[in-house]
Amino acid sequence: MRLLVELSLLTLVAASSSTGAGSSVTTPLGDFAPTKGSTCACKKLSCELGEVILPSSATYVVQAAENYWDVRADLSPACIFLPASADEVSKAVSIFKSCNAQFAVRGGGHMNYPGSNNIDGGVLLALEKLNNVIVKRDTIEVGPGLNWYDVYSALEPYGRAAIGGRLKTIGVPGLSLIGGFHYFNNKYGYAMDNVVSYDIVLGNASQITVNKSSHPDLFWALKGGANNYGIVTKFTLRTFDIPKVSTTIQVYNESGIPDFLTAVCDMAMLDDKDPIAAGMVATVQYNATTKVASASLLGVQEGVSRPPSQFANFSAIPATTRINNVTTMKQWATDLDSPKQMFRVMFSHKTMKPDADVLHSIYKTWKDAVDQIADIEGLYPTFVINIASASAARVARTNGVGNVWGLEEESHILWQFSTGWALAQDDLRVEAWSRQLAEHLHAINVKKGIASEFVYMGDAGEWQDPFAGFPKENVARMREIRSSYDPKGIFSRLNWGGFKLGI
Ligand SMILES: Cc1cc2nc3c(=O)[nH]c(=O)nc-3n(C[C@H](O)[C@H](O)[C@H](O)COP(=O)(O)OP(=O)(O)OC[C@H]3O[C@@H](n4cnc5c(N)ncnc54)[C@H](O)[C@@H]3O)c2cc1C
Ligand SMILES: *[C@@H]1O[C@H](CO)[C@@H](O)[C@H](O)[C@H]1NC(C)=O
Ligand SMILES: *[C@@H]1O[C@H](CO)[C@@H](O)[C@H](O)[C@H]1NC(C)=O
Ligand SMILES: *[C@@H]1O[C@H](CO)[C@@H](O)[C@H](O)[C@H]1NC(C)=O
Ligand SMILES: *[C@@H]1O[C@H](CO)[C@@H](O)[C@H](O)[C@H]1NC(C)=O
Ligand SMILES: *[C@@H]1O[C@H](CO)[C@@H](O)[C@H](O)[C@H]1NC(C)=O
Ligand SMILES: *[C@@H]1O[C@H](CO)[C@@H](O)[C@H](O)[C@H]1NC(C)=O
Repeated sequence: MRLLVELSLLTLVAASSSTGAGSSVTTPLGDFAPTKGSTCACKKLSCELGEVILPSSATYVVQAAENYWDVRADLSPACIFLPASADEVSKAVSIFKSCNAQFAVRGGGHMNYPGSNNIDGGVLLALEKLNNVIVKRDTIEVGPGLNWYDVYSALEPYGRAAIGGRLKTIGVPGLSLIGGFHYFNNKYGYAMDNVVSYDIVLGNASQITVNKSSHPDLFWALKGGANNYGIVTKFTLRTFDIPKVSTTIQVYNESGIPDFLTAVCDMAMLDDKDPIAAGMVATVQYNATTKVASASLLGVQEGVSRPPSQFANFSAIPATTRINNVTTMKQWATDLDSPKQMFRVMFSHKTMKPDADVLHSIYKTWKDAVDQIADIEGLYPTFVINIASASAARVARTNGVGNVWGLEEESHILWQFSTGWALAQDDLRVEAWSRQLAEHLHAINVKKGIASEFVYMGDAGEWQDPFAGFPKENVARMREIRSSYDPKGIFSRLNWGGFKLGI
């Protein structure tokens, strides 16, 4: 009986909090007065370019909030404009400039850095209408309104694949501009290494094509330089003949976790001269209520291999679930959705050399630390491990272009805490917890001499500065390139959100 009462109380709490969320649908999200700049820009956009979405519009809530992965990214722009062409992006930028209006740009809406892709009181440019896709012989041209599932779907009939996101609905633009971890980095490099051309709108509203021979300095800077240079209106991506992939889904209970972490480190250390493309999503989940920990592997290997040979070390660990398959990149991605508005979520991440004992002790410390915040409503803690192998870095070191990371041909483990929760009142608490834990564990690695200062924007929290981990000369060069392509600082002063180079 008591249990029943508690259950119905819980249901009530859940129901009332969802009514709470529902009511914010009718009363716009926050209550921000438009600035002088955005009032000017919204008016000009609607006079010169047609419809803008205002807080009173029926689609405002979808555009200002529901299209984001992290609930914290929901903000209250003064108006939202959906450009339908590169020319309209260019006109919008010239309006922002003349009105001195602050603005934000959204692609796939997955970045969980509040303010990186949305803005209170400014103008939001949402790129979803830029959704052209053209498949060429060994490239694909993609509009920034598309996600990776769109790309894999367009390529499937041709038996080809691109190097993009590992999950389904991550946006093409954000991931391509910050780096891009895919399953096949160990052979083909990162997503950024496979962009052969960018069409971009600069701060003075001019449109240029950037490739190896046209604006080569900017071509380099866009490979990892994020949203510091302009708005990309078309990406041309290299594609590869990959008609089939071999996949494995494996789940281990707590007893399997040490061997799982060792297998991840072993995989990071592989350094074949002619690697078989293979990689994974590796995560450990811990439920602070049930005290149950488990690990999971989503592994993908190029070509047909039953079971996939590169995951033999994982397959040797007793698993509670193991599903091997041979399929296509599109089919594999079909079920890997990351729903919009999933939760509030904080990332914290650091990098180290592969060391299974240390990785295991980071995992244990994390698990104990999760117990300390077990009272947080909706707590959803995940420990994520990504690998950056020597052979992945070799691609940029040998392709005559490079990228802004400037990584040495060494193997690295990127460890990350991805922590979800339910209520805004816990935002600062979760951030403090996550940051202190990451910094504490990183400091231990620094002492041990196994830490790297490399930080990937896709795994970082907003409190982190990824540029501080790039070679100093690269950051200096990136700033020079910025001052020549954006002398007025449109993409630092007016579009200020996200990972910015700073002064
Ligand atoms: C569930 C999940 C899974 C992920 N998996 C992976 C993964 O497998 N591999 C990986 O590498 N990363 C991964 N990430 C990180 C992901 O790559 C970044 O969050 C990335 O920014 C998402 O791109 P987007 O277009 O969806 O982002 P958005 O939030 O739309 O944009 C990100 C940033 O780029 C800017 N931007 C967007 N479009 C443009 C444009 N056309 N021109 C200039 N700037 C632009 C935005 O203003 C913003 O600052 C994942 C993230 C999540 C939440
Ligand atoms: C680079 O872009 C320029 C300008 O559009 C074009 O003329 C040239 O053919 C392109 N070069 C390559 C290598 O794609
Ligand atoms: C498997 O583990 C062994 C060490 O136990 C290591 O030498 C080997 O490289 C690993 N193989 C793969 C594919 O990770
Ligand atoms: C973990 O899973 C393995 C493989 O299914 C099983 O043999 C073992 O008993 C399980 N251990 C626990 C603690 O549940
Ligand atoms: C295995 O691959 C086939 C072919 O793409 C697909 O139809 C099927 O759903 C996959 N099965 C699983 C369990 O993923
Ligand atoms: C943890 O387990 C409880 C009880 O089964 C469940 O309600 C909750 O959703 C779980 N949390 C996570 C993060 O899976
Ligand atoms: C816009 O900026 C670019 C890069 O600085 C420059 O080459 C170009 O001449 C500028 N165009 C105009 C119209 O000012």
